[in-house]
Amino acid sequence: MDIKGARIVLIGGAGLVGSHIVDLLIQQPVSEIVVVDNLVRGSRNNLTSALRDPRVHLIEGSMLDSQLLQEVLRPGDGVYLLASLWLKECVEVPRQAWNTNVMGSWNVIEACQDRQVARIVYSSSASVYGNALEVPMTEDHPFNNRTTYGATKIACEQMLRAAHQQGGLPYVGLRYMNIYGPRMDYQGAYVSVMMKVLDRLFSGQPPIIHGDGSQTFDFIYVADVARANLLAMQATCCDEFFNIGCGRGTTLNELVSKLCELEGKPFHPHYEPLTSSFVTQRIGSIDKARDLLGFEATTPLPEGLENLLQWRKLAHSHC
Ligand SMILES: NC(=O)c1ccc[n+]([C@@H]2O[C@H](COP(=O)([O-])OP(=O)(O)OC[C@H]3O[C@@H](n4cnc5c(N)ncnc54)[C@H](O)[C@@H]3O)[C@@H](O)[C@H]2O)c1
Repeated sequence: MDIKGARIVLIGGAGLVGSHIVDLLIQQPVSEIVVVDNLVRGSRNNLTSALRDPRVHLIEGSMLDSQLLQEVLRPGDGVYLLASLWLKECVEVPRQAWNTNVMGSWNVIEACQDRQVARIVYSSSASVYGNALEVPMTEDHPFNNRTTYGATKIACEQMLRAAHQQGGLPYVGLRYMNIYGPRMDYQGAYVSVMMKVLDRLFSGQPPIIHGDGSQTFDFIYVADVARANLLAMQATCCDEFFNIGCGRGTTLNELVSKLCELEGKPFHPHYEPLTSSFVTQRIGSIDKARDLLGFEATTPLPEGLENLLQWRKLAHSHC
């Protein structure tokens, strides 16, 4: 869609990815940027500088409130659907996961249909693929998922596909690989491996690696992910899913070793047994996103990790 003069609504836009999309949108000729977020994980702080722009509004509310969604959305809007419970939270509270990730997302899809929005960009996940059966995984890789979180993402993808087929709702879905960068949650109940490693390094302790560290992931910097979202909103293609990653694998050993190097600490991790049956191998093919969206990640891992470290130190010093 043409975003010139458009109104853009971000459901779950105060979190990691959403707040970086907002930062990009304020540089665009859009008319209004509305963030709807219940702030269970994201925060007003993530939007501090963006909220200085008079076009940006934050509405504190949940996508479980379908009346709120009907009131917020307007014909012709571009909508980002980002809100979701996190992987580990879905393990611990599966009913809540289905309620939020599936019923909440359905509320958004239904309101988007009723209000005739122009386009939805849905935040899916590479979790739909589960462990890689072949590398790199193309978008045709089977749904080898074994997690509640991944199951909710598959359900939403299918709901969108049905809404498109039966009602013509224009959408695309982005299957993110492992995202990192400034504004990652480091204080909540569910924090990522990278944040746990930094906690240990900052407190002078050796990092902990579960397993032998050979687990391989495709890490992508959050500003690149935000740019993919902007391109996905502007694209004309519909009813498509895209891997959003770098297309390169990095082992946990390599990742933690790089963080140690940047922090000036020796790489002497404690290896502990694997505690979960989550994915151990994930690298996405980037061809489709490059060909149809014109997207390629540009931030090298060392540069992105350095930015993350600097941000985290600053955030730490303000605690
Ligand atoms: N971060 C990653 O590595 C990653 C990887 C794959 C997929 N994803 C998906 O991308 C999306 C964005 O990820 P993120 O890292 O920015 O997550 P995040 O948790 O930082 O942001 C999600 C936001 O949704 C909000 N939210 C949760 N429930 C809500 C509700 N009921 N109503 C309104 N807002 C609600 C949270 O407060 C938060 O601000 C999510 O759907 C996530 O599943 C993320």
